[in-house]
Amino acid sequence: MKAILLSGGSGTRLHPITLGVSKQLLPVYDKPMIYYPLTTLILSGIREIMIITTPHDLPQFQRLLGDGSQFGVEFTYRQQPSPDGIAQAFLIAADWLNGSSCALALGDNLIFADGLSTKLQEARQRDYGATVFAYQVRDPERYGVISFDDNGRALTIEEKPEIPQSNWAVTGLYFYDRRVCEIAANLRPSDRGELEITDLNRVYLEENSLHVSLLGRGCAWLDAGLPDSLMQAGTFVQAIQSRQGMLVGSPTEAAFRMGFISLEELYARGKSMIKTDLGKMLLHLAENYETPSASYSQ
Ligand code: G1P
Repeated sequence: MKAILLSGGSGTRLHPITLGVSKQLLPVYDKPMIYYPLTTLILSGIREIMIITTPHDLPQFQRLLGDGSQFGVEFTYRQQPSPDGIAQAFLIAADWLNGSSCALALGDNLIFADGLSTKLQEARQRDYGATVFAYQVRDPERYGVISFDDNGRALTIEEKPEIPQSNWAVTGLYFYDRRVCEIAANLRPSDRGELEITDLNRVYLEENSLHVSLLGRGCAWLDAGLPDSLMQAGTFVQAIQSRQGMLVGSPTEAAFRMGFISLEELYARGKSMIKTDLGKMLLHLAENYETPSASYSQ
């Protein structure tokens, strides 16, 4: 399976901050926002990742992330010239995907959950249908919303409905089988002129192949697209890291846990950032690492 990390858009809800810099490069506490969904993809066990962003922002992403070797993965970069919807990513990436199954992560979504790594790997290994992750929120009208029947089967999926059928929002992390590009190619733009990811998910729902993984109590899903949610995300990461001494959203740590980089590489990465707490935490992990920790669950 390959993956797309989508970091397009103009971040209008964060103006004027995002007039000068891409939203997904803004700090969420001590790391650039894109590190968090990147960590999620690495924890899924995916090593071939395409980063899609605007022509204007692409050089900055390349400068930050390079070719991926620092995380033991391979990055390919591609431009999204105009923001015509999330599902457009599959049209942009179609030749690169070349019939492969594909995960998609939105560059402004942060998920922190106990046992997430297991859920992600289950989704990656499913070779038919699609998997989405749902999370209960107070303001579902801001998101894709999924509703269920009495037996817990997905019933409807709607994009930013005025009257939501439930309070289960669909998070910005999706896993699709190899048919995804073909299905995306048949979508029509919505009333707001976008190729909607929700319309793509509805195709899977209607053929009964949409798996919904519920993120329950004890999970945090934060989208950092508004001043308040950006601040909340930073505060959340700071609280966990300083209270528990556990890293949140470190692609280096995830790459090490997944066996993508060696202990020596982890050590070197920690040393290169020794002036920061992040570097010290990586170094501490390298120096104290013995056996895979059962408690690692981000
Ligand atoms: C997008 C999707 C929406 C999803 C959300 C998650 O909305 O269209 O279905 O729930 O991401 O962050 P956007 O944030 O682009 O408005």
